[in-house]
Amino acid sequence: MKVFFMIIFTSQLFTSQGQDCQSGEEVLNALKQVQKLLSAHETSFLQSLRSLRKKLSLLQNSTVKHNKSTPDKSSVSDCPPPEPLANGRILGTVFKFGHEVHFLCSSGFQLMGPETRVCLDSQNWSGAQPSCKFVDTTVNNDASASISASSSSRSHPPASVSTHVRASRCIEFLDSTHCTCDQGYSISSHNSTLCTDIDECDLFRRTRPGRLCLHTCVNTAGSFHCECPAGYSLGRDSRSCYDIDECARATHDCSSEQVCVNTFGGHRCVDVDCPRIRNATYIKTSPLRCDRNPCIQGDNACFQAPVFINFHFMSVVSNMSTPTVLFRLSAARILGDTLRFSLLGTQGVQHFSVQRSGRLTGQLVLENSLQGPTTVEVDIEMSEMERRVLLGRYVTKLTLFVSPYNF
Ligand SMILES: *[C@@H]1O[C@H](CO)[C@@H](O)[C@H](O)[C@H]1NC(C)=O
Ligand SMILES: *[C@@H]1O[C@H](CO)[C@@H](O)[C@H](O)[C@H]1NC(C)=O
Ligand SMILES: *[C@@H]1O[C@H](CO)[C@@H](O)[C@H](O)[C@H]1NC(C)=O
Ligand SMILES: *[C@@H]1O[C@H](CO)[C@@H](O)[C@H](O)[C@H]1NC(C)=O
Ligand SMILES: *[C@@H]1O[C@H](CO)[C@@H](O)[C@H](O)[C@H]1NC(C)=O
Ligand SMILES: *[C@@H]1O[C@H](CO)[C@@H](O)[C@H](O)[C@H]1NC(C)=O
Repeated sequence: MKVFFMIIFTSQLFTSQGQDCQSGEEVLNALKQVQKLLSAHETSFLQSLRSLRKKLSLLQNSTVKHNKSTPDKSSVSDCPPPEPLANGRILGTVFKFGHEVHFLCSSGFQLMGPETRVCLDSQNWSGAQPSCKFVDTTVNNDASASISASSSSRSHPPASVSTHVRASRCIEFLDSTHCTCDQGYSISSHNSTLCTDIDECDLFRRTRPGRLCLHTCVNTAGSFHCECPAGYSLGRDSRSCYDIDECARATHDCSSEQVCVNTFGGHRCVDVDCPRIRNATYIKTSPLRCDRNPCIQGDNACFQAPVFINFHFMSVVSNMSTPTVLFRLSAARILGDTLRFSLLGTQGVQHFSVQRSGRLTGQLVLENSLQGPTTVEVDIEMSEMERRVLLGRYVTKLTLFVSPYNF
């Protein structure tokens, strides 16, 4: 287009000069010069066109996903598949010039070497092959230890702030510069020679449903990690939190008289005391059960008192979905003709209901979700009747420890 316009322009100039009575020789000379100029322009134009075509083709060769079924010559420009990474994995499946692969180590391993390698036009990967080194990060399951561990990791040393920005790696490609960052970093919006840390916690929160971490997400330079509240340990997936069972681990401080009850995030030491009921006396027959002593003949108050009292401690998470069957009660055998299940007193009636679930079984149902942390108590009574006459009452005293979290 440029050439075409130039012809029109110069010939107009020439004709206007011709009208001013120029000699034939002068005209010829001018024409020759114009032709020279034109051919120079044309050559340069064609050259740049050729170079542009070549660049386009190169660009296409490097970006177009080659047809793998045809082992054509262009596949020669591929890098060999990177060596597998022991105890880690490789992200990236295109092994072509200009493409990158990223290396990730399994949890408990630390990457030694570059996080990223680029396929060079020498058909080699940039840098050296990294490896994953085992690091001893065994979670200390002692509750007190995990508190100190989490509090220390929360206070990041001020030096780590500067590592949130680092230099980018740039390669010259077709007169343009292509800069890349290590994994966990992205090109700074202010300065393409710099990489800034990606806040994975924030990114995930803004772009995806669900949670990256079950509890707390902590952004670090180039990465992130999850933290759990005290009393929980981080799962193998590095995201979940699992309750530490202090009672099973015997890291509790309950006395031998007490019962250790593991809760979500902690434990309780409970004292099981037999109740004082008028005219009846109880004896502890197991750590969680009190049986009534035999009644004196004719002492109706004693016969009306529960035959036994079972203590039941349960730990649940906060905001459980409802309705949920918490547990079932059943009579091993029955002397009478009827078994009745009911809630005793008014405690807990707004949260629970008791339903019959079989001839000899009843179940306690949580009707309204409980928000923790809280402790809820409810007494469930099972009474055995024979022709409407009470044969015996059996009471289960339930204590529900509700966790502060929904895990
Ligand atoms: C691009 O690839 C084609 C074959 O796929 C090849 O003929 C051509 O020479 C390549 N172009 C360049 C500039 O390498
Ligand atoms: C890939 O190659 C196969 C035959 O080798 C051909 O049928 C197919 O059309 C090719 N696909 C592309 C995208 O070139
Ligand atoms: C590419 O790899 C080959 C074989 O491993 C090696 O001889 C060559 O020096 C490498 N080239 C570069 C630029 O690293
Ligand atoms: C980008 O950062 C580099 C390194 O810190 C600095 O030398 C350069 O001046 C910066 N460029 C701009 C445009 O800020
Ligand atoms: C309770 O026991 C006392 C003495 O043992 C007895 O006199 C009284 O009648 C009993 N009460 C009932 C309601 O049976
Ligand atoms: C409780 O769970 C429901 C969904 O089951 C959810 O919509 C609600 O936000 C939760 N409430 C709290 C306080 O977590």
